[in-house]
Amino acid sequence: MAQPRRSPDDHYFTDTSDIQSETESILSKHIPLDPDAPHPLQKNQHLQFLVRNLIQGFPSRYTSQDASQPWLLYWTLQSFSVLGVALDPDNKQKAINTILAWQHPDGGFGGGPGQHAHLLPTYAAVCALAIAGRPGPGGGWDQIDREKMYKFFMSLKQPDGSFHVSHDAEVDVRGIYCLLVVAHLLDLLTPELLDGTPAFIASCQTYEGGFSCASQPYFSAEADGSTILLDTIRPPLGEAHGGYTFCSLASWIMLRPSLNLQEKADHLPTINYQRLMRWLVQMQGGEIELGGFRGRTNKLVDGCYSWWVGGCFSLLASLGIGRGHGHDAGPSTDARDDGEWDDVDESVWNRLSLQRYILCAAQHPAGGLRDKPPKSADAYHTLYCLAGLSTAQHNVYPSPARRADVAAAWQLHPEYPHEELRKTSFLEALSWSEEEGGSHVLGGSVNRVNATHPVFGLTMTHTEGIMSHFYKQTIPR
Ligand code: FPP
Ligand code: ZN
Repeated sequence: MAQPRRSPDDHYFTDTSDIQSETESILSKHIPLDPDAPHPLQKNQHLQFLVRNLIQGFPSRYTSQDASQPWLLYWTLQSFSVLGVALDPDNKQKAINTILAWQHPDGGFGGGPGQHAHLLPTYAAVCALAIAGRPGPGGGWDQIDREKMYKFFMSLKQPDGSFHVSHDAEVDVRGIYCLLVVAHLLDLLTPELLDGTPAFIASCQTYEGGFSCASQPYFSAEADGSTILLDTIRPPLGEAHGGYTFCSLASWIMLRPSLNLQEKADHLPTINYQRLMRWLVQMQGGEIELGGFRGRTNKLVDGCYSWWVGGCFSLLASLGIGRGHGHDAGPSTDARDDGEWDDVDESVWNRLSLQRYILCAAQHPAGGLRDKPPKSADAYHTLYCLAGLSTAQHNVYPSPARRADVAAAWQLHPEYPHEELRKTSFLEALSWSEEEGGSHVLGGSVNRVNATHPVFGLTMTHTEGIMSHFYKQTIPR
């Protein structure tokens, strides 16, 4: 039995330090000291867990997630995809019919039949259709009402470039990420939709370097007691968090093709990559929590941040930031950064330790994956632990060669407005490919899972399938 490994402490004990030390002692029991100890991925148990939920239905403890039905389905279907398993045609059709029942008559998808449309379930429903659906009658893709979807998006748009997640609801970068993914997949991008959004995203970066859920208008207090609205400065609302950081960085990457179209093109927003990278690195649990990631300062490691935080390293690497030696390191020429960037090698994040955390601590022996032991497995942690495993195993980068292939195959459709934005967004989305010989699979090839598109949270194949359909493009493989 491994000895408990503990972080050094200052002997000032608090609730937080107690729970930290309790977590370390539990994790020490699960994660062997010997890095060569076997760490099998329990694929069959995970598949049985997923099949049970999909076919027999989710256990009654999931009733509180009644407004997250599209999420439960997306988490399940995408977990199958990461594990390399496709649904049979009958179950695909059942999934398609179920998803279409969540579509709102005025556009977008709700969390269940008859529920209000909301950006978060809209993302989950469209991604689930990307996996299970197909073109044609009854296939799901052509039954998405894209015109109403676009109107729904525009009805949520705020003058500062942000979006409400639903009518009369809050603004949150998760909603912006969800909207941008759907607009990318379904060919709904327009300069009008994206106007002001990069500046809003940039305003959510906190002093720590990560991103918070939103930002707020800034009022200056004047000597005479009055206040003036300064709309150029927007302080972030709340603390930096891994979930919001992933959504913000992925949104920022999706928005880059639109930067030159922004209204205030002479004053383009920037984010500070160096501070972001520093914060991401600090979210690694380090030696004691053995490779897991936490979601915010002074909180505990949790398997789902393997994707939300781990995925950010792939997103940054796509800008040439933090890629290991032997790659084209350093920011690409059009990366907008207000700080100097010093090259760092891949040791900034430990891919093997993250895999060790997922395989040794996050796998539940009865199938499914979890936050940490002794918690039970659930659909959300099953996907994001597997997606984290995927991002740790595979080097997926935008490849100039792939981009050139996609660009060469681009068919011009002059009847479409915003051709340049469509084309660039399509090329950026589909130029990601797995670097040959670049995978790092802990435990050998039996533990290998499929690569995940770092921006969309789908496989590369599903991303390409649905985008090719909506953009009316044929890309040779
Ligand atoms: C804190 O939970 C959690 C949040 C503040 C939000 C997390 C956001 C995400 C995971 C992103 C979701 C993304 C989409 C696209 C919907 P907590 O206090 O229980 O956890 P913590 O202690 O780890 O911070
Ligand atoms: Zn979690």
